[in-house]
Amino acid sequence: MSVDLSTSLGSLKLSAPTLTASGCAAAGRELAQFGDVSTLGGVVTKSIMLNARSGRPTPRMAETPSGMLNSIGLQGPGIEQFIEKDLSWLTENGVTTIVSIAGGSVAEFGELARRLRDVPGIAALEVNISCPNVESRGQVFACNHESSSDVIRTVRSEWNDETPILAKLTPDVTDIVSIAQSVVEAGANGLSMINTLLGMVIDVDAMKPMLGGKTGGLSGPAIRPVAVRAVYQVHAALPDTPILGMGGIRNGHDALEFLAAGASALSIGTVVFGDPSAPWRIARELGEELDKRGYQSVREVIGKAHQAG
Ligand code: FUM
Repeated sequence: MSVDLSTSLGSLKLSAPTLTASGCAAAGRELAQFGDVSTLGGVVTKSIMLNARSGRPTPRMAETPSGMLNSIGLQGPGIEQFIEKDLSWLTENGVTTIVSIAGGSVAEFGELARRLRDVPGIAALEVNISCPNVESRGQVFACNHESSSDVIRTVRSEWNDETPILAKLTPDVTDIVSIAQSVVEAGANGLSMINTLLGMVIDVDAMKPMLGGKTGGLSGPAIRPVAVRAVYQVHAALPDTPILGMGGIRNGHDALEFLAAGASALSIGTVVFGDPSAPWRIARELGEELDKRGYQSVREVIGKAHQAG
């Protein structure tokens, strides 16, 4: 098999098509026992905030049919510790690193970008404007055109021109295409999509929501058709905007579906909890799926499903 698995997200060249999804492999180091992290397309780190944060009350996870709910609440060590401990490990180990940032306000996003601007070893910034596990729906910036573009415009003004900014979008909106257009106009170079969908599980013995935070983000195979639809719609409207696709990808076949819809690279999330080697396995399987169909590269199938009309 001689399929070329390399791809790119705009100006960012990737030697492999699969990356970790933010929140599913911390800052990458914990995957090192399962494979060489530097051979992945990249690691997208757990969204980092300015200050250390303990997150939401437990329980924070619940199983659902074909998926899971998480209600972590952006737990993390804060930006300074992240730079010192996590980012330094990623850089020393030659990992293509996409840093995911999350702010409680537009100003906080700007501050995070300013703090990271001159730190070496960052291949791209993923701006998480779509975490569902925040104090109020008003903090899900990606639900609204104005707030999502305000964040991206502010990050753009604090960031450098060489390193791409990816805006992470939520599917919990009426029209994801118009949100995508807003953030691209505001300065995003690419899009990460989709984040989890807001969901709930009720414990009918205790007669209360299962999660401490009541609601959580639904991920896993249950959301894959929603993600594929969103990627397809946005690629149709913005064919020149690179998309990092994610949402329930379990194998090479699923990965191929996202590429055909218009994604240029893939983040592997929930499946990693059961199979930590999944990002490497899925890249291999994708190569086999392409080979079987007579394709020689990842690049030639990006957006292919649009050609059928
Ligand atoms: O709760 C969390 O930390 C999840 C973040 C996200 O889905 O963006």
